Amino acid sequence: VGQQLYYLPVCESTNSEAQQLLIKNKATEGCTVLTSEQTKGRGQRGNTWEAEPGKNITLSVILSPVFLPVRQQFYLNMAVSLAVLDLLHEYGATAARVKWPNDLYFKDKKLGGILIENSINSHTLQHSIIGIGLNINQLNFDVDTATSLSAITGTTIHLEEVTSRLLELLEKRYLELRNARHAKLKYEYLQALYRYQEVHQFIVDGKRTEGCIVGVDEDGRLGVQLDGELRFFGFKEITYII
Ligand code: BTN
Repeated sequence: VGQQLYYLPVCESTNSEAQQLLIKNKATEGCTVLTSEQTKGRGQRGNTWEAEPGKNITLSVILSPVFLPVRQQFYLNMAVSLAVLDLLHEYGATAARVKWPNDLYFKDKKLGGILIENSINSHTLQHSIIGIGLNINQLNFDVDTATSLSAITGTTIHLEEVTSRLLELLEKRYLELRNARHAKLKYEYLQALYRYQEVHQFIVDGKRTEGCIVGVDEDGRLGVQLDGELRFFGFKEITYII
């Protein structure tokens, strides 16, 4: 990962750039697109991703998880989330967690997000574009629900160094996935899950309810115990109240 590296000072979105490289057949597995500034950064659920130029990690990695059946694609989310979490832990943000499905949180503030875009060939994944946005040295945010590694640790972080470490950790977790260490990945993901096994407030079917996260299923849906009943939710079906 990162052997083939494209650095663009400015671009619309590294995920879109990575897509273009794939279309033009210019990418080998592990190819990474890195930028200092995105003008149309994309987030999950059609959101935008905003970050102050030059201060944060904004990159996309192209992988070819052809060994992974489409039905198990959530394992890729877990492996990538764990890689970013490994980095945060190494840099001193030991209380960092993954908010399902793959947001990086420190206490009740978001410090990063992951956008994975897959292409599928019959029953397995063909290409995956792993977009990672991680707040590193940014200290001022438009919202008070965001934070950065620097704000947490009180130090300025060497951006190139932290970026190359992330790529190493991503490769390590990806190899675990390729070696079918599924149980290990899932176990560690659950251990790192924000609000796991805690009673918490959610919005379900437009109503505020109390529930307890008990796991994720094979499809990556969140398992929540609600009023004595175990229910599984997809992306848009449940909202956390933070
Ligand atoms: C989210 O939290 O909604 C996911 C955010 C993902 C942002 C990253 S930044 C690099 C890559 N390029 C994009 O346009 N988005 C991802």
